[in-house]
Amino acid sequence: MEPRKVDIFDTTLRDGEQVPGASLNRDEKLQIAHQLAHLGVDVIEAGFAASSPGDFAAIKTIAEQVKGPTITALARAVKADIEAVAEAVKPAERKRIHMVLGTSDTHLETKFRKSRDEILEMGVAAVKFARNLCDDIEYSTEDASRSDFDYLCRTLEAVIDAGATVVNIPDTVGYAVPEQWGDLIRRIIERVPNIHRAKVSVHCHNDLGMATANSLAAVKAGAQQVECTINGVGERAGNASLEEIVMAIKMRGDFYGGRTGIRTQEIYPTSLMVRELMNMPVQRNKAIVGANAFAHSSGIHQDGFLKNRLNYEIMRPEDVGIEKSDIVLTARSGRHALRHRLEKVGHYYDASHREAFEHIYARFLTVADRKKEVTDEDLHHIVSDAPMDVPEQYLLEDFHATSGSQQAATAHVRIHISGESIAESGTGSSPLLAAFDAIDRITKLPSHLEDIQTSANGKEGVHNVTVRVSYHTQTFFGRSADTDVVKAGIQAYLSSLNQLVARHSGLL
Ligand code: KIV
Ligand code: ZN
Repeated sequence: MEPRKVDIFDTTLRDGEQVPGASLNRDEKLQIAHQLAHLGVDVIEAGFAASSPGDFAAIKTIAEQVKGPTITALARAVKADIEAVAEAVKPAERKRIHMVLGTSDTHLETKFRKSRDEILEMGVAAVKFARNLCDDIEYSTEDASRSDFDYLCRTLEAVIDAGATVVNIPDTVGYAVPEQWGDLIRRIIERVPNIHRAKVSVHCHNDLGMATANSLAAVKAGAQQVECTINGVGERAGNASLEEIVMAIKMRGDFYGGRTGIRTQEIYPTSLMVRELMNMPVQRNKAIVGANAFAHSSGIHQDGFLKNRLNYEIMRPEDVGIEKSDIVLTARSGRHALRHRLEKVGHYYDASHREAFEHIYARFLTVADRKKEVTDEDLHHIVSDAPMDVPEQYLLEDFHATSGSQQAATAHVRIHISGESIAESGTGSSPLLAAFDAIDRITKLPSHLEDIQTSANGKEGVHNVTVRVSYHTQTFFGRSADTDVVKAGIQAYLSSLNQLVARHSGLL
């Protein structure tokens, strides 16, 4: 018997992107959406259309440019939100409106202050309204895992009658446990009389670390769509992780009897792109995509693995796109080798990207000069630092920083500003903060440093630094990478200040 198809609905760009510090600009969202299409997801949830003009524009651009998957975006069950989604996804080949309305008494009583009947009526009216704008409507019963079962079933039946084509059952707060959750989905399928007229979907959060297990229990019980994110990014402890669900369905087809349309070799490149652009590193022991996921360290394991890989490995790293580097990138590597390796990790540079590629090549050589070998992870750091369309008012010329156990850290920084070279010294509790102090003395900008995040890979790795700076209600993220963490930090800080002065030229 042909295994049944389980649709993969990716919400990295909506539920994942809601995470503080993980926000993406339009180009970054578009880049990820193209990669998700390449990965083979069935649905891309590109954002929350009514949340901001920027999100609306990003959804629209994705709908215009990304071919293959259905493009959807989230709406509350109100006309203005639904119209915003309909308008944003209009250019897509395949489009869907996704709306959400709570069903638990907690949500009804404290969020909406409405009765069950009132909310049900509101949901039905919203679906009918949306069906006039789009043929594919997904209805999410928020907080389903804490909802009354009879009311949940009554809601599902009513919204399917009103025209919903997909009904999504979310474990919004990560409260469910696998046996009970699988049972709930099975009972819904048995109880709701018109359920065969809609696809049944689940959306699980990871508050108790069970999002993947719950999603799989639902698949076993008959769910036809799973909502998930790359690397499990998402609100609080995150969403169910796409790579774990997809590989579990693939590796345990004997148990689940299902298949997905995912090109599993694209999993790792997609994971690297998302961790880089969202600045959300992945723990080393993360299933499928962590740095140690295919590393064998104990003597007994190494011996057994070398005798027969199957002794200690259930899947091959190549199956998820982790390749042993066929070409080792060093300071002697040329453009051809770099382009080849970049393609392997999901970054394509054709003739129309000549300038961006040259910038990356120059940065690659700087890093390669300081390291024996440039790894795939280093490449992602290097690429994420490619030039943006913001004029570089402040350009780092030179710096020197010191620290010690008996003294405050000091830094001396020289910056090029509008044809002039200006230097200042600063102090702080670390060389990075001392350098920022020196920069503040030079620029005299009224901005506020909110956050610094750094990550590095291995002892010789490239340090990736993201800096968050605020000015009034606006936030600016600067990102840079270098083998020297202070240099990466200074460049990231200057990048955020360059964005700030590009937006408020009067501050210069
Ligand atoms: O967690 C949740 O309930 C959601 C819905 C919008 C599906 O994200
Ligand atoms: Zn969610």
